[in-house]
Amino acid sequence: MNAHLEPTVMVIFGAAGDLTWRKLVPALYDLYLDRRLPERFAIVGVARREIDDAGFRQKLKEGVDLFSRRGRTDEATWNEFASRLSYFAGDFTAAETGSLLGRRLEEFDHQWNSRAARVFYLAIPPGLVEAAARHLESLGICRDCTRDRVVVEKPFGRDLASARELNGLLTSLFAETQIYRIDHYLGKETVQNILAFRFANSLFEPIWNRRYIDHVQLTVAETVGVEERGGYYDQAGALRDMVQNHLLQILCLVAMEPPVSFAADEVRNKKVDVLRAIRPIRPEEVHRVAVRGQYGGGVVAGKGVPAYREERNMPPESATETFAALKLYIDNWRWQGVPFYIRTGKRLRAKVSEVTILFRPAPHQLFPLAAVESWQPNRLVLRIQPEEGIVTRIQAKQPGTRLLLRPVDMRFSYHEAFRVSPPEAYETLLLDVIRGDATLFMRADQVESAWSVISPVLDTWEAAPPADFPDYAAGSWGPETADLLIAQEGHSWIQPDIRPEEGEGKVP
Ligand code: BG6
Repeated sequence: MNAHLEPTVMVIFGAAGDLTWRKLVPALYDLYLDRRLPERFAIVGVARREIDDAGFRQKLKEGVDLFSRRGRTDEATWNEFASRLSYFAGDFTAAETGSLLGRRLEEFDHQWNSRAARVFYLAIPPGLVEAAARHLESLGICRDCTRDRVVVEKPFGRDLASARELNGLLTSLFAETQIYRIDHYLGKETVQNILAFRFANSLFEPIWNRRYIDHVQLTVAETVGVEERGGYYDQAGALRDMVQNHLLQILCLVAMEPPVSFAADEVRNKKVDVLRAIRPIRPEEVHRVAVRGQYGGGVVAGKGVPAYREERNMPPESATETFAALKLYIDNWRWQGVPFYIRTGKRLRAKVSEVTILFRPAPHQLFPLAAVESWQPNRLVLRIQPEEGIVTRIQAKQPGTRLLLRPVDMRFSYHEAFRVSPPEAYETLLLDVIRGDATLFMRADQVESAWSVISPVLDTWEAAPPADFPDYAAGSWGPETADLLIAQEGHSWIQPDIRPEEGEGKVP
């Protein structure tokens, strides 16, 4: 275990829910296996469900067996880990649960002979965050600004006004440095690697601008539908669920200026600069720069799947978008005039997230026409998932007596280079919370700026429900209107290279 970390208690509200079972505890267990957790560490679950410590541990063990990247638990290690897990059944906002929890926390301090750091993880539905935060503050158990932290999951508000309100409330109760707004994409190894790639290599930065880059594409495609989360998703849609947070955060990392250091606020300042520089979308131009779609039935990875409107408990007339694409411009010195196309959707052809940087053509074409028939400008693909890596497409002479140029790929695979499986996003982020490092978390102004970017689109879409839903087949790359969006500037989507198990075969 890590003897340098302060004793810590992590209190999870909503501990009987899916997030705790699927993500949080498997991640904590993997950190435990890697001996990254503090020596004195405990997890206290709080939820309404009536189970005892043993039942709680058993349920979590099943989750770890299913979802840990290390596979099934071994009995002895699990038992050691499980001895640090305990459970409180009760409504957290009830006075009695609060005072019992307060006493439990004091017992840890007493037992460890030191005031432990406290992490309060709100793994609860967004509608309960306000009450939980108020109650937490009133109990006085989260008042040490340097040691106590509150972790808030997305969705952070449902529009700019509600996000502001929530930020206002949280910052009135806690110091900003105590609030960790989580976006799990920022914990993904390859998302962090965008920073390493850009700022630890001197090769790319000189060409990372409008002089050399023609446009940028960002695709976050999923094969899954709404799964068990229909109730939430139908109220959210792709723009709120994915674009406001994950896609805009990735865009920030691709487009930001170099920070002075890796200190949390240095990095976050540069990211928020990007969001502020995104050209505001005027309501009258929404139809030209934003596209929405909803999946109909189709075939994904060889299996027939139902239309969105036929998913369980879904309103048959639902107007919620399951696909969104935007064309954005960043009005600053570096990116003036360079389109950034971003798209995301459910039930697409493959699960893949990648950023493609398309460079301008070589300024002078000196080869004979016959030699450059299959010529393509350079491109660089930052593959975030699955198969994390970087692919650079260059032109090469095809071997032979004739002069013929062909595009070829130089491939770098994280897996081949490092031969280890990267930590799950939640491992990185939970450890950062325990260490008190907020670099990979969103600050209040970032969240609000991201809502400002998409607000005009949200408002316009809400005011005019779509007439043509469903407009893409499950298993396709989305609606045709997304192709038209990008074709306005003579561009076309670069469809990801997919392995057969990721989708339905290799796409040219
Ligand atoms: C979540 C969204 O934030 O991210 C989900 O709410 C989505 O709808 C998920 O499926 C995708 O995450 P990942 O890590 O599987 O790409």
